[in-house]
Amino acid sequence: MAGFDREELRSYARAKRGEYEQVLENIVEIPSVSVDPERKGDVRRAAESAVSLLQSFGASAKLYETKGHPMVHGRFDRGPKYPTVTVYNHLDVQPAEGPDWNTAPFDFIREGDKYRGRGTTDDKGPAITALFGARYAFEKGLPLNIHFLWELEEEIGSPHFEATIRDHKKDFATDSVVVSDTVWVSRARPASPAGLRGLQGFRFDLQTGETDQHSGTAGGAARNPIAELCQLISECVDGKTGKVKIPGFYKDVVPPTKQEIEDLKKCGFTVKDFKRDHMFRSLRTTDAVDVMKRIWTMPTFEVHGIAGGYQGPGVKTIIPPKATAIVSCRLVPKMRSEKVVKLVRDFVRKKNPDVKVSTEHALPPYQGKTTGPYADAVRGAMKFAFGKEPVFVREGGSIGAVLSMERVLKSPVFFLGLSLPEHGYHAPNENFDWPQAEGGIAAFADYFRRIAEMGR
Ligand code: BES
Ligand code: MN
Ligand code: MN
Repeated sequence: MAGFDREELRSYARAKRGEYEQVLENIVEIPSVSVDPERKGDVRRAAESAVSLLQSFGASAKLYETKGHPMVHGRFDRGPKYPTVTVYNHLDVQPAEGPDWNTAPFDFIREGDKYRGRGTTDDKGPAITALFGARYAFEKGLPLNIHFLWELEEEIGSPHFEATIRDHKKDFATDSVVVSDTVWVSRARPASPAGLRGLQGFRFDLQTGETDQHSGTAGGAARNPIAELCQLISECVDGKTGKVKIPGFYKDVVPPTKQEIEDLKKCGFTVKDFKRDHMFRSLRTTDAVDVMKRIWTMPTFEVHGIAGGYQGPGVKTIIPPKATAIVSCRLVPKMRSEKVVKLVRDFVRKKNPDVKVSTEHALPPYQGKTTGPYADAVRGAMKFAFGKEPVFVREGGSIGAVLSMERVLKSPVFFLGLSLPEHGYHAPNENFDWPQAEGGIAAFADYFRRIAEMGR
């Protein structure tokens, strides 16, 4: 099988740019915010429009119901004697409100090579990119079946993903999976994750009264639920250093090997770029290797929000009756979420028995593979499309579906991500860009060719 011609493929991508932008615009402008019950209809609309899109590209496609938001499966089938690769992406997005957006979050804005709007980079842009790469490869007659699995519950922790693929195991059978939902080290440095962190979410609720009360008449005797939650949190984690103070929390953490540290040193990460891309004013450390260890190889205890009491202008002298904190722990390979739940519950019970702990998302950590023919195909395809091999470093984020696909479909999972740190995952003014899309179309097409060559 002859390789693809890089220039031909790139000019194919350029010729399809208008169509690419139209397709991306259509899907970005559907506000598929999976966490928001009011957007339920929009999430379904995104799934339905994805089915039509796949069909318009010549694939067969079907919507699968789950106990929550639906899921979409598409197939470019060549025949049962050929290998099958499944591309995983998610088409749900994070909420997008707040004053920091420069344009309406669900308006697709094109500024030169840049595409702005919620979901452009996480994960609609990469999904559409893979689809364009697949159509090219399929039309070239590759001896390969290319399937798409598009989830609409990724941003809420994939609660029904595993059960749904188990129920339709036959439909989703595949020889390998490629996930495009991760971030490069920098524009100049492609990356493919050698691991993902897991996540265990919690809510802490404390109620000590019924309504607001005057802080002059009751203050001093009344308990203050916000202050108590703040104290509890500071007993869980050192806010300045990030060190988790819950006994046993770090017990299962496997520290990075010497080789991994050497790889970190060479991976192209700099503190300066990290601060710029994420708009941080300062960090807990200024050492690059220490930053990478913290975001990729260590678990965390994070406070996402704390609510309660008065938030309006001036001061309102009340004692609030209740408060809530939303927190989560990122987990690294070998940590188990059940164990972390027990540690946190027991610790909270000991420190403040009135606090009600409820659990939220539970996503296992993931340890990936960096050797073998599929990893080499990722290397080769990235080099073909972008002129540079990816570094295999870990990712700090979590994708619930990954371990489920490995477990249920019994096929290996690899990563061909296209997002950049400055694209602003989950941030206001999220964006994607044409250079990543154009290269991505070529990278996917070439990845498919390499997989086809491997045969079954
Ligand atoms: N694409 C991200 C996962 C990710 C983040 C990969 C950073 C690589 C680097 C995914 O869409 C995501 O945001 N996952 C959530 C899951 C959670 C809401 C259950 C996460 O990691 O917070
Ligand atoms: Mn994502
Ligand atoms: Mn996300």
